[in-house]
Amino acid sequence: MEASILNKVFAEEKISKYDGLLAHFYDLDHQWRDYKKQTYLIKSLFVSQGLKQKIKILELCCGSGTHTFFLSQAGFEVLGVDSSFEMIRQARLKKEKEKVFPLFKQRDIFSLQDDSSFHHHFDCALLLGWTLSIQSLYERFTKILELARFVLKENGFFVFDITLNKGFNPSSSQPLIYETQDGMRGTLQIRSKENKVRRTMDFEYQWKINKGDGKSEQFFSVNEALAIVERDDVLLKISSFKDQFEILHELSGYSLNFLYKKGDKNLVMVLRKALSSDVLSETA
Ligand SMILES: C[S@@+](CC[C@H](N)C(=O)[O-])C[C@H]1O[C@@H](n2cnc3c(N)ncnc32)[C@H](O)[C@@H]1O
Repeated sequence: MEASILNKVFAEEKISKYDGLLAHFYDLDHQWRDYKKQTYLIKSLFVSQGLKQKIKILELCCGSGTHTFFLSQAGFEVLGVDSSFEMIRQARLKKEKEKVFPLFKQRDIFSLQDDSSFHHHFDCALLLGWTLSIQSLYERFTKILELARFVLKENGFFVFDITLNKGFNPSSSQPLIYETQDGMRGTLQIRSKENKVRRTMDFEYQWKINKGDGKSEQFFSVNEALAIVERDDVLLKISSFKDQFEILHELSGYSLNFLYKKGDKNLVMVLRKALSSDVLSETA
């Protein structure tokens, strides 16, 4: 990879792609993701299990809330949680335009276990958008499984997706150009690089943003690393929860018909919380 200007940028000059001005571009930069199809998987999951009324869904790391809105429109009661102030603000702005009213909370997901109102409250917990692939979250996968166990009712589902073995490599040879509805123009150049030692794909995002006043500002987004993961790594981590979760579906796409097969780059898992798994783990 050619030498990057970002190597010369101090860490404190980089901002998260989920914060501040950059969060305004999140939806435009993720238009390729089929949110509707992904949320349809959740609906078909409940249909396959016999749809009940008032299904409560907790969307972990909901970002700007696109899944959250589609799920609300499908009739679920949804709470979206994300640690980014600006992503939650973007989600709440959307709420003013939509005819459904999901709830959003700005919280670190790892703080939810301190809140008894989340305990055994949800029929389903979601972690979508390849969020589990983010290295800092993948390192805490065990904590995330504990969290899912904490928030779910018995027989509740935990659904997550993860990209396998360098499945996501979005380097852009040409800059991507986005225009927001409020008149900002962003030009984004993405570079990616494999870090063989850490087993991550590292990304550098270099943005030039014109806020509509003719002047451009340059931003460097934090080098968000994605874990390079094999399916066996995922299965191994889940196996330590084998008394608490059963693997109900292992898919490679967002349909119950797309069964995972060896070599597929996307893994979508549906885990079901075992009956009385908390009693088992609390008395162990
Ligand atoms: C890849 S985005 C996915 C957003 C959304 N689920 C989607 O599919 O568009 C990851 C999101 O995780 C959020 N996030 C990362 N770590 C978090 C944490 N510890 N607690 C809550 N949110 C977190 C970020 O703010 C960001 O919005």
